Amino acid sequence: MTHQLLKMRSHHCNELRESDIGQSVTLIGWVNSARDHGGVIFIDLRDREGLTQCVFRPEESPEIAQLSHTLREEDVVQVIGVVSKRLEGSENNRIPTGSIEIVAKELKVVNKAEVLPFQLDKELSNEDMRMKYRYLDLRRARMSKNIRQRSKITSAARRYLDDSGFYEIETPILSNPTPEGARDFLVPSRLNPGRFYALPQAPQQYKQLLMVAGMEKYFQIARCFRDEDLRADRQPEFTQIDIEASFVSQEDIIGLVEGLLASMFKAGLDVEIPKSFPRMTYADAMDLYGSDKPDTRFEMKITDLADVFAATEFKIFRGTLDGGGVVRAINAKGFAGITTGQMNRLNEIAVQAGLPVKNLAFVKFENGEYKSPLWKIFTDAEKEGVIAKLDLAEGDIVFFAAGSRESVSTILGRVRSEVAVMQELNKDSTKFNFLWVVDFPLLAHDEESGHWVAVHHPFTRPHPDDIEKLDAGDYANVRAVAYDVVLNGYELGGGSIRIHEKDLQSKMFSVLGVTAEEQQVKFGHLLDAFRFGAPPHGGLALGLDRIAMLVSGEDSIREVIAFPKNNKGADLMTQSPCQIDYKSLREVYVQSTWKDPKLAAEKV
Ligand code: AMO
Repeated sequence: MTHQLLKMRSHHCNELRESDIGQSVTLIGWVNSARDHGGVIFIDLRDREGLTQCVFRPEESPEIAQLSHTLREEDVVQVIGVVSKRLEGSENNRIPTGSIEIVAKELKVVNKAEVLPFQLDKELSNEDMRMKYRYLDLRRARMSKNIRQRSKITSAARRYLDDSGFYEIETPILSNPTPEGARDFLVPSRLNPGRFYALPQAPQQYKQLLMVAGMEKYFQIARCFRDEDLRADRQPEFTQIDIEASFVSQEDIIGLVEGLLASMFKAGLDVEIPKSFPRMTYADAMDLYGSDKPDTRFEMKITDLADVFAATEFKIFRGTLDGGGVVRAINAKGFAGITTGQMNRLNEIAVQAGLPVKNLAFVKFENGEYKSPLWKIFTDAEKEGVIAKLDLAEGDIVFFAAGSRESVSTILGRVRSEVAVMQELNKDSTKFNFLWVVDFPLLAHDEESGHWVAVHHPFTRPHPDDIEKLDAGDYANVRAVAYDVVLNGYELGGGSIRIHEKDLQSKMFSVLGVTAEEQQVKFGHLLDAFRFGAPPHGGLALGLDRIAMLVSGEDSIREVIAFPKNNKGADLMTQSPCQIDYKSLREVYVQSTWKDPKLAAEKV
């Protein structure tokens, strides 16, 4: 019988224990390492489950012992042998198979490996190299563990939702643009010249249409595509656990998602997370943390100083307070020893976040002395107020910001996050601070375009108590029935109760500046569907990549995606995106207007 037809192994490489001693076994895998001990070769044989030591003794078989001398790391080999107890003193208690070894009777070199471009047992900082040879990178224990955990949490989610009566339904990838706030990836249609599909940013409209279709409970492990600036927690294609249900309230969705996340964390990490998560309104999150996804593993809350400076004569604070603005501060505890470099970085971040001057105002208390460019300007009462309200103690530094409520939140929120990075307050990956942020505003005013835009998306339901404000055009104060679930400063998911009435949906589009004609062209299918008995419905989508990242204790979702893109949206292994030849472009009626600047320069 040929080798391919025989069973290739009897056990995996993390299976055999002392109780198996004496058994004849067949293992197959990669040579993780090979060592020559006085002419006897020992290898650690590896498969995805773990390692088993194999030894090739000349007294067992001289030919095999000789062949074993040719073994190199990452060769694929099959070993047939007998499970034996390791010599006393040579046990390895760091691996579960560490008290046994396989004394080889047969050795088959299944496939030789050339020298690898990098060593698998060392962390490699060159990410390009890792991505170019991703299939080797994935052989490393850390990556293999991440992929396994991701698989575990994905199946747990499936099981949980199936047990809760949800149907798993696929929706089209070739579809139309969906307003989720990013650019679309477009696909030209050969059969429909001049027309394009858009890859879905989310299956939002389809899942709502499934509710109109009477499915009642839908979920999908859905690939989503967004052409937006990439970050450590953003990829151009990513995966959502997308959920929608009919006849539900916000409470129903929150309860469902808490249970779902509990099942995923149990499966991935064997930890019990709280049965229900704390809740915070969007307004409080912004006021206290300067973020709609606050990391609550550390305090450093934003403190309002309106009462402390109520009678101030300090011009900037006076002007701000008189103009309806706010004066607020955060206390970075124990950070008075901040370096000049760190201070410069904070100033830079504050300016990027909208600080109108070059430097953040601060006061630090160091060696019993208050040091601050402002201290001499403040009155004694103001100084006392600052010290008391911010609990300013030896070793602390307080940062101030004055301006509109929104801009102060943004500035101090960014500074708070950066200080946390500098002080490594955000490093504890064993702490899981889940949080619901609720009562989001429905609309935000986009200064650039002058338009009102949806904070979540246009299908989000206005808060029933704020409908009058919507009718009255008081858009800034209309809340949405929308909720985000946050973990350790990351937005894990977002959702809402939806609009299910045609007129309200149409009104919402109008507020967003979508004309009646455009509404028909872009959303006619949804508005039509709402004419035929649409049930009340709502849902949420969780970012599976982000959950997998946090479960694995990683700080980039690239570490939990088998084949991710780099920060230019490229896959260095396959060299995607690639150039398409003129003929293929012509077939889909596309003409490129892009000119290679290098070629253009050469021509000149
Ligand atoms: P939203 O846009 O908030 O909501 O997305 C839901 C979750 O998806 C994840 N996510 C991403 N993950 C990786 N890379 C990205 N580029 C990326 N963008 C988003 C986040 C986010 O919380 N249709 C709505 C959901 C709903 O209303 O039901 C939606 O897509 O974890």
